[in-house]
Amino acid sequence: MTDAPAPTPNAERLAEEILTRMLSALEILTIEVGARRGLYEALAAHGPMTPRELSSSAGIHARYAREWLEQQAVAGILTVSGPATSAPDDDYGRRFSLPAEHRRVLLDRDDPCYMAAGPQFIASIATTLPEVLEAFGTGGGVPYERYGEGTREGIAGLNRPMFQPEMLRSWVAALPDVHRRLTDGSGARVLDLGCGLGWSTIALAHAFPRARLTGIDLDAASVEQARRNAAGAGLGDRIAFVNTDAAGAGLDGAVDLVTVFEALHDMADPIGALTSVRRLLTPSGAVLVADEQVSEDFTAPGPDLDRLNYAFSVLHCLPATRAEGAKVEAGTVLRPATVRAYADEAGYGSTEVLPVAHDLWRFYRLSP
Ligand SMILES: C[S@@+](CC[C@H](N)C(=O)[O-])C[C@H]1O[C@@H](n2cnc3c(N)ncnc32)[C@H](O)[C@@H]1O
Repeated sequence: MTDAPAPTPNAERLAEEILTRMLSALEILTIEVGARRGLYEALAAHGPMTPRELSSSAGIHARYAREWLEQQAVAGILTVSGPATSAPDDDYGRRFSLPAEHRRVLLDRDDPCYMAAGPQFIASIATTLPEVLEAFGTGGGVPYERYGEGTREGIAGLNRPMFQPEMLRSWVAALPDVHRRLTDGSGARVLDLGCGLGWSTIALAHAFPRARLTGIDLDAASVEQARRNAAGAGLGDRIAFVNTDAAGAGLDGAVDLVTVFEALHDMADPIGALTSVRRLLTPSGAVLVADEQVSEDFTAPGPDLDRLNYAFSVLHCLPATRAEGAKVEAGTVLRPATVRAYADEAGYGSTEVLPVAHDLWRFYRLSP
């Protein structure tokens, strides 16, 4: 038997990093447990609770209530008061609370700090891992709908806090001529491509009360939910949602603004999609693309945003796009040079990066 090799600094560093990332992955899933089982909601509704109180209020087993409460407190998500020493009984006097500021992050879907959709998205991606593993071998894909409600709701939940009318107004204001047309003229027309659950389309409708809106998405379940969301917002008669491929939408009529929020990189034929909407644009119309704010060039090791988007790409966006029968698959890491190349091939006269401040996305104007 040979001796095991001595640890080296780089091997130790990676081993430690993997341990840290295991901690993050595990805690993310425990947040999803709390969200799915309504535990944060129960704590928000009833204030400080013992494990037994949470157990009866949320309808979960008392032993699990205790373990989860202790774990969440140790993770710094809940606060705890009461005796320092544990007793075997679940009603041992400790009370656990969800601080008001953490409630915003975990429960308030419109709050700019809302992040519970992230764990939801991660948990749903994990369920398709066997299919992704198979696709790595066959070169095939994993259809978007296979990722299920957790992905639809997770993506929508992550982006929804940004889709506030004042935010949409400020983004469109980076295209002053288009903004003027949407504000002054009646009957201006807006297409929202890859609209998902429709929150961006709804916010655009609120931001520009005179505009007529159409949301387009390839995923049937998303379009159905978008229609329900628009009806719930009282906008059912101002927004039409169409379940179709943006590349072959077969739409007609003149359009003043096309928006594509975090969806161009998901399209199997982004050049086809940009070409089909260019033909609809009025001479002064434009396409507003928002996509990932990744490095301009391949960088390794890379910054966190590149890492985040590559990881989404490996596990979700690339397999979902390949399942569409991809002609060009960018993956999630859509760089400015690629957007420019797509726009050139789709026949646009100019592509510019807009001076819109944003933590995650880069904004582009494509003009015919
Ligand atoms: C990351 S999600 C973004 C959804 C939405 N824009 C948002 O920000 O919440 C990408 C969306 O693009 C849609 N999509 C993918 N390929 C498409 C295509 N060829 N035509 C239309 N929509 C497509 C997906 O169904 C999905 O809803």
